[in-house]
Amino acid sequence: LLVLAFAGLAALALTWARASTDTTGRVAFDRPLNVPPLAPSRVEDGTRVFELRATAGTTDFGVGDSATRTWGFNGAYLGPTLRAERGEPVRIDVTNALPEATTVHWHGHELPAAMDGGPHQAIAPGAGWQPSWTVDQPAATTWYHPHPHGATAHQVSRGMAGMFILDDTTSRALELPDEYGVDDIPVIVQDQAFDDDGQFRRAEHPFSPVGHLGDQILANGTIGGYHEVTTERLRLRLLNASPARVYDFGLGDDREFALVGTDGGLLPAPHRTDAVRLSPGERAEIVVSLDPGERVVLRSTPPDLGTDPWTGRFAGGDDRFDILQLRAAEHLVPVPEVPDRLAGTPGLDPADAVATRRFRFSGISINDRRMVMDRVDEAVVADTTELWELSTSDGSPHNFHVHGARFTVLEVDGERPGPELTGWKDTVYLAPSTTTRVLVHFADHADPNLPFMIHCHFLRHEDQGMMLQFVILEPGQERGRPPATHATE
Ligand code: C2O
Ligand code: CU
Repeated sequence: LLVLAFAGLAALALTWARASTDTTGRVAFDRPLNVPPLAPSRVEDGTRVFELRATAGTTDFGVGDSATRTWGFNGAYLGPTLRAERGEPVRIDVTNALPEATTVHWHGHELPAAMDGGPHQAIAPGAGWQPSWTVDQPAATTWYHPHPHGATAHQVSRGMAGMFILDDTTSRALELPDEYGVDDIPVIVQDQAFDDDGQFRRAEHPFSPVGHLGDQILANGTIGGYHEVTTERLRLRLLNASPARVYDFGLGDDREFALVGTDGGLLPAPHRTDAVRLSPGERAEIVVSLDPGERVVLRSTPPDLGTDPWTGRFAGGDDRFDILQLRAAEHLVPVPEVPDRLAGTPGLDPADAVATRRFRFSGISINDRRMVMDRVDEAVVADTTELWELSTSDGSPHNFHVHGARFTVLEVDGERPGPELTGWKDTVYLAPSTTTRVLVHFADHADPNLPFMIHCHFLRHEDQGMMLQFVILEPGQERGRPPATHATE
């Protein structure tokens, strides 16, 4: 009997074992890559005004029997690219045409908590919201997506995500490819799974420590897309807008490219590499050089998640994908070499840290706490720097994202991080059983009552409550109490 039970268990384990996915060399690349349009804007009394309408629709991804029911902004899937300049006052007129409440969070922006679009700024169905602030941070590739507490994964994976590009005098003066849609291309990456009818399917393996892992990779909503390249160099702004998948992006022939920017802006100097790892929410700007007439594939190879092989398998750590193809024209417009110096070094000094805090990520909690809407977990002072120690202990991959602040990575397990972590960050991967020390600089936007979030950006973890709240105070100010719920009309 025991033997039988054992055999049964083994058979069960085998059928449950997650098959790895490998699409390399098997993608036709027969669809032009969709490039999200630049959002139109108008200037009203010196403020740049954009309009975003959260809406439901259908999208033909070329999969299954019927078009896929999707959500997006100003369209059926994803959203337009917003673009603004440092120093510019901006306002976004958001309307919610979805059948449920949503929020729009400006991931990577430094702004007052009331404008942040986190769980406290819910927009009821049919209602609107008009956040406004002045862009005051370095040029960067940021993004926007919903953040309703408990429903972020479901809304983002239906397509609610868009890019928000910030420029400044430094980025404008540098000779980097910057003609949007020509040699400066957003690449918003989401993994999806489809049923036979062509509808999105939640693909969560019962043993998965992280959540949904799709077997199709969409770049700007295109599966197997190609992009016609007309210039010698091409800048790709990679955004991992997937709920749980971690990617190691590289090129099909393992050629080197220049990593020029990460979450919070341009690096001090370009880093020549053949791979860049992005966990959910992270961005990278890379510059790829091409020869006339050649074809090069953007690929994701199995990321080293730092897990044991069993966990790693269920976290997608052995999947490989061909994502999109770059097709160089026979004659390419010359583009200068990537400059040796890019932006200034962030220059945060551990000696400037006014406090040290420790956050332990485990299961679906941080410091054994889970998100409570009307509880503030931490209070910090505006325009100060703190040393935060982020540790993981449960064998699962996690990451760390903070609103209303930016940080630099000081150490990972006592070691100085590589050149890819020398710029401003707002999200960083946390491998199992590691300790990452970051220097966090809080924005100059105090509000004793409305909190900012810190959370794991693996969206299932976030939705399950792996999120805490902190307020930014003026020196000497007392913390208040945030509302339990908050909805606009
Ligand atoms: Cu990209 Cu708190 O979010
Ligand atoms: Cu997590």
